Amino acid sequence: MTFAPIQCSAPGKVILFGEHAVVYGQPAIAVPVTQVQATATVELAPPGNGLTLVAPDLERSISLTTAPQDDPLAVAARLTLAHLSVPPPDAVLTIHSTIPIAGGLGSGAATAAAVVRSLAIALGHPLDNESINTIVYEVEKIHHGTPSGIDNTVVTMAQPIYFVRGRPIELIAVGATFTILIGDTGVASPTKESVAYVRRQREKHPAHYDALCDQIGDLVVEARQAIEAGDPDTLGKLMDENHRLLIEMGVSSPDLNRLVTAARTSGALGAKLSGGGWGGNMIALVEEATIKRVTRALTKQGAQRVIATRLGTIS
Ligand code: MEV
Repeated sequence: MTFAPIQCSAPGKVILFGEHAVVYGQPAIAVPVTQVQATATVELAPPGNGLTLVAPDLERSISLTTAPQDDPLAVAARLTLAHLSVPPPDAVLTIHSTIPIAGGLGSGAATAAAVVRSLAIALGHPLDNESINTIVYEVEKIHHGTPSGIDNTVVTMAQPIYFVRGRPIELIAVGATFTILIGDTGVASPTKESVAYVRRQREKHPAHYDALCDQIGDLVVEARQAIEAGDPDTLGKLMDENHRLLIEMGVSSPDLNRLVTAARTSGALGAKLSGGGWGGNMIALVEEATIKRVTRALTKQGAQRVIATRLGTIS
């Protein structure tokens, strides 16, 4: 078998609304963050070498045959080969990623999506988004235990999505340009643990947690309308409300709350944590005129990095 080097990328993501409640069947909205990417390159290796997976950023190089059963990169490759019913090629698959790990920006899902897409192309059987998404979901289970499926879906589609577990994916038509600042607490977000915590709390206090999920679900529906209508003021208020409900769920943290408050008091239209919580990233909706001020305020309050991303334009 011969092929020219193949390279595929997948973006990071942020959840704009509905994290955690989405695990229990409520809708959520997520958007790709193209400023950070995972990129996989597949190159031909001498015959008999098998498939080697290399992650230079993590100083890792493993052979598919000896990789641990639960190694996410190896699982992505093995599932792709099984899906296509083909043996491993003699090739080197190299992964580079600029998506911070454990920051709630979808680094695991994006890495898997890039691996699956590039490997399938190298094998001469390009896969459609639906098949890639199904495989990446299986890989996500290693990272997150019981994922809703929103992270793999948004990074695979690389478009803003309105997601309800088990329902067909809906793409969102963005009615205006919205600028979102993503502020990193610098603390790892243990999504698996925060999802498990919400599950336990929901078992203990079903009425309370179901009511919180219902309220979040209602505001996600309103948020979709505001995005489609191009209404930033309403969207900002809904972010604040979503953050309040996530605090009640018990998944925020002093670091996240400090950054959310800093964003609001420096002029953001709204702000909330994004993703699993207890660390990771928060997001703030800002107008063009306040980008610098809010970025400075976030940095002053300890944000390790601030990424500006735009919805509704090619950025
Ligand atoms: C994680 O990015 C989002 C959560 O809602 C978990 C999930 O949907 O699987 C916290």
